Amino acid sequence: MADKGGFPHYMVKEIFEQPQGLRNTIAPRVFLDEGVVRLDDVRISAEELRALRRINIVASGTSRHAGMAGQYMIQDLADLPVEVDYASEFEYRNPLIGRSELTIVITQSGETADTTAAQREARAKGSRTVAISNVEGSTIAREADGVLYTHAGPEISIASTKAFTAQMAVLFMFAVYLGQVRGKLSKEQVRSHIRELLDLPGKVEAVLGCAPDCERLADKFHRVQDFLFMGRAIHYPVAMDGALKLKEVSYVHAEGYPTGETKHGPNALIDESLPVMIIATCDRNDAGSVLRYEKSMANIKGFKQQSGRVIAIASQGDEALRKLADHTIFVPTATELLLPILEIVPLQLFAYYMAVRRGLDVDRPRNLVKSVTRE
Ligand code: F6R
Repeated sequence: MADKGGFPHYMVKEIFEQPQGLRNTIAPRVFLDEGVVRLDDVRISAEELRALRRINIVASGTSRHAGMAGQYMIQDLADLPVEVDYASEFEYRNPLIGRSELTIVITQSGETADTTAAQREARAKGSRTVAISNVEGSTIAREADGVLYTHAGPEISIASTKAFTAQMAVLFMFAVYLGQVRGKLSKEQVRSHIRELLDLPGKVEAVLGCAPDCERLADKFHRVQDFLFMGRAIHYPVAMDGALKLKEVSYVHAEGYPTGETKHGPNALIDESLPVMIIATCDRNDAGSVLRYEKSMANIKGFKQQSGRVIAIASQGDEALRKLADHTIFVPTATELLLPILEIVPLQLFAYYMAVRRGLDVDRPRNLVKSVTRE
């Protein structure tokens, strides 16, 4: 109990450490008065960053989901095309990269064999690399041109939680940094992004207050054998990670799906026996976000007509969604690109309580290791 800080498992301790991990990761890099983000350890000159034609993000598992969110952040804020690859697949598709393409490798441990191999392949082709890692001096960090450390603190539980939110915060800062260096963002825009970043840890703290609701949901659903997770746009990687967490710690089959894709197949499965966890938050200041939200509301109406049981992750104050869904978990409002950092928290807690309720070894799921150091 001692090193678990009074928590029964590392996983839940680490979920609750997220506000601090985010503070430590964000605070040293943002300067509100000056309106700048400083990432000195990127070690790639502003000239090179301006000349980039594309970014490739390579990672495995949860780190790849962070990369998928990073794709939206970088494309939106820095106007650069981004491709995301599974590290284990990278070499098979003959990646067309060279000096004009930057490769970002994301890895909590910094030792994942597939990601190390992908970074070596990228470097061999002449691409510069930046590693996002939670472990100082790790193999991948040592071999990269630049390093952006997440300061989430040591992650012991096999299921990655606090590293994931810190990775997304780093990717957001990198996107703002790129937008700044490439002249895509004004000082005032950078300042507004910094304000959002500085508010984030407090908002995650507020979301953690939903733990008792997540425990009640696990009580209700712990006998279920299948689950669907859905999200649109940048919320899709959150759905993917919610499904992965549930699979790995509670051994419940779960799939993450882009909400709009469900009508191309999975709808056939949705009835009272297959619950749906759908992320349907909305940034009311963003017309695109409002449009996506409205589409998701229409999807939810369809699921209800099919007798589907819907758990919604909603923005604070969304009464319409609360009335429509069977269960609703609220998260604070934020700029859309940062919402994933809030939305994943209830999904992590739900997976945790499901595993506890099913009597499983939460921190050490069967057949998994913390760091996959062999291919
Ligand atoms: C899921 C999980 C794994 C890791 C993956 C990559 O909860 O922990 O999917 O994300 O094995 O590990 P790193 O980030 O150390 O390269």
